[in-house]
Amino acid sequence: MNVTIKQFKDSEELSRNAAEYIVDQAEKCILDHGFFSLVLSGGSTPRRLYEQLAGDQCRRRISWDKTHIFWGDERCVPPDHFDSNYNMTAQALLSKVPLPERNIHRIKGEIAIPNEAAIQYEAEIGDFFRNHTAAIGDFPAFDLVLLGVGNDGHTASLFPGSDILTEKKRWVATSQAPPEMAVRDRITLTIPVINHASGVIFLVSGESKRDVVQIIIEDPGRNELYPSAMIRADGEIVWFVDFDVY
Ligand code: 6PG
Repeated sequence: MNVTIKQFKDSEELSRNAAEYIVDQAEKCILDHGFFSLVLSGGSTPRRLYEQLAGDQCRRRISWDKTHIFWGDERCVPPDHFDSNYNMTAQALLSKVPLPERNIHRIKGEIAIPNEAAIQYEAEIGDFFRNHTAAIGDFPAFDLVLLGVGNDGHTASLFPGSDILTEKKRWVATSQAPPEMAVRDRITLTIPVINHASGVIFLVSGESKRDVVQIIIEDPGRNELYPSAMIRADGEIVWFVDFDVY
């Protein structure tokens, strides 16, 4: 695991540089193996990044027909719901770029039984990697996983103290967000899948997150309390932040 920290002066510069990084990774992956498998995060921070990817600077540099979009997690709501991660991405990015429908691998949060949605999403991931790579092994290897960090140290929908943190086999599972969150029922990639990725980006904005990010980076042993610290990817981890970590 190789960790890099990139600090920027504000969220606009943060988003622009993260978009450039993703475009560079897309170009490299498509040259290397013919496709780019990108896992997106939800929440509010990445919206500006998605808008940047849809902007003139980036849109024309990405081969959208060879790019496949997945999500790291989803709330158990319909795709047109205000709290849907897909809905935010569709507004900021998907509606503005020529990404073929078949390249959009949505977590179906509208399915009444969340575990059924998790099973379907895991099957879709398996189908994709079986069709695009020689062998999958125990876990798929996404080219790049974009993650956010919550104030409690969660990432995707992997929350402190939850059973899913010890999941060693499933690729996708259900989880419960804390009571204070708008939507508690969630579907999320598991830690082994994220850790099997070739690259991970943490995109974190706002001074309020400096302390939790410092703990995650400097004391990864505090795993159960800070699930983001359990992300110890096989490949490169790059932190994009708009505050001073050190
Ligand atoms: C979600 C996200 C979640 C998010 C963090 C940070 O579905 O909510 O996947 O993990 O990345 O909560 O959210 P903000 O960027 O809004 O602070």
